[in-house]
Amino acid sequence: MSTSAELKQRDNQFIHPWDDIVKLGGNQRTLLDRGEGVYVYDSEGNRLLDAPAGMWCVNIGHGRKEMAQAVYDQIMALTYVSPWSMTTGPAAQFAADLAELSPGDLNHVFFTTGGSTAVDSALRFVQFYNNMRGKRAKKHIIAQKRGYHGSTFLSGTVSGKERDKSNLDVVEGLVHHIEAPDLLQKPAGQSEAEFLDACIASLESMIAEVGADKCAVFVAEPILASGGVIVPPEGYHQRCLEVCRKHDMLYLSDEVVTAFGRLGHCFASEDVFGIVPDIITTAKGLTSGYIPMGAFLVSDRLIQEIKDRGGDSAVFANGFTYSGHPVAAAAGIKNLEIMQREKLFEQVRDTGPYMQQQLQTLRDIPIVTDVRGLGLMACVECELEEGSRDLDTDLALGSRIDRHCQAMGLIVRPLINMCVMSPPLTITRQQIDEMVAILRKGILLAMQDIENEKAGTRSDHRHPSPAA
Ligand SMILES: Cc1ncc(COP(=O)(O)O)c(C=O)c1O
Repeated sequence: MSTSAELKQRDNQFIHPWDDIVKLGGNQRTLLDRGEGVYVYDSEGNRLLDAPAGMWCVNIGHGRKEMAQAVYDQIMALTYVSPWSMTTGPAAQFAADLAELSPGDLNHVFFTTGGSTAVDSALRFVQFYNNMRGKRAKKHIIAQKRGYHGSTFLSGTVSGKERDKSNLDVVEGLVHHIEAPDLLQKPAGQSEAEFLDACIASLESMIAEVGADKCAVFVAEPILASGGVIVPPEGYHQRCLEVCRKHDMLYLSDEVVTAFGRLGHCFASEDVFGIVPDIITTAKGLTSGYIPMGAFLVSDRLIQEIKDRGGDSAVFANGFTYSGHPVAAAAGIKNLEIMQREKLFEQVRDTGPYMQQQLQTLRDIPIVTDVRGLGLMACVECELEEGSRDLDTDLALGSRIDRHCQAMGLIVRPLINMCVMSPPLTITRQQIDEMVAILRKGILLAMQDIENEKAGTRSDHRHPSPAA
């Protein structure tokens, strides 16, 4: 077996997501060996509290033996069958479980391999639906700036982060982005209600610009996750859904992050935001990241319309070798069983507000400019000099916070200058206190570093050793 130094060396030629190819070979990634509960352990044995739960995904926490057992049992019973012509007990059961837990009449599940393929497949389903209805001009997609929906050609086009597209191609002219409903952008003197009206007016005017007869679907995350945990003003999703209904557009709620307990409910669309969308996409917490899987759920209404108009046949020619993979489905069933048995959604309704409250205490740090979130999803935004920002300064600040926190036993992985937190749902109040205390120290040390640098001095080796 190679040593961790050799493995890190080898890893340097492996292209990771969002890798800077110019710098390929020069990365110093932390090698993680194992995990248990809310903690992971690096190759030197340091214990790190996993504040992002991997990437918003390890909802039941790391190292669950009964998950391993469920996966093992399914592999030994049956590894794989083609989902084209056969099915398995786990896939059938898991689809039924999800239909049972989903809002309204979203009773039909299409399994995919992850979140990007869930969004991609759902959007292809929207195209299919409109084609079947004879509305072939209805192709255009309206989505939000700062939204993230995946890395396939189509889901990447729908994502609203301009910087990510600078060296990559997108489907030109198909997707139109409106501003994110970010209350921080509310002009001074405008009430929240007026800001909401302005958000809705921008959706209406985008539809008018493109032409309602050409608009197929509005795609939104209930809370913009990697866009910086942007919680929309109250009533935003309901009003957007009304606009969609008025213009014969579908509403796709991208719950890749917000489902499976992150906001204290199985799905957030209805229980938190009061809407029953036409389609929900999900992944991540669907299996708590133990085995890759995604899905979209679609309403009885859409299925019935296709049946009514499809004549003898309407083939949705889209799918994956691993759609409904029995091992992933077995993991999904076990994941739900654990969440329900341990009442994790109820627990989040207690620990979520506590985490938000504790993070608010960081507002006394001069460079913390905003603390926001809901449930177990939060963002602490830092800025060196308010109002005068540039990307390099923000990146440097974020990476310092990251390094200091990690040296003290906390993974934060800031999104540029935004420390985004989405810990496993099992996190306790005590562990939240530990997370907030380290984050406070990490931000203060990063701030100090930058001040020292400005003053021409250097500061090193000041952390206590990582929690063992
Ligand atoms: C809201 C949202 N949709 C879709 C995706 C894409 O999921 P995946 O990375 O599993 O393909 C992500 C990933 O972070 C996401 O946050």
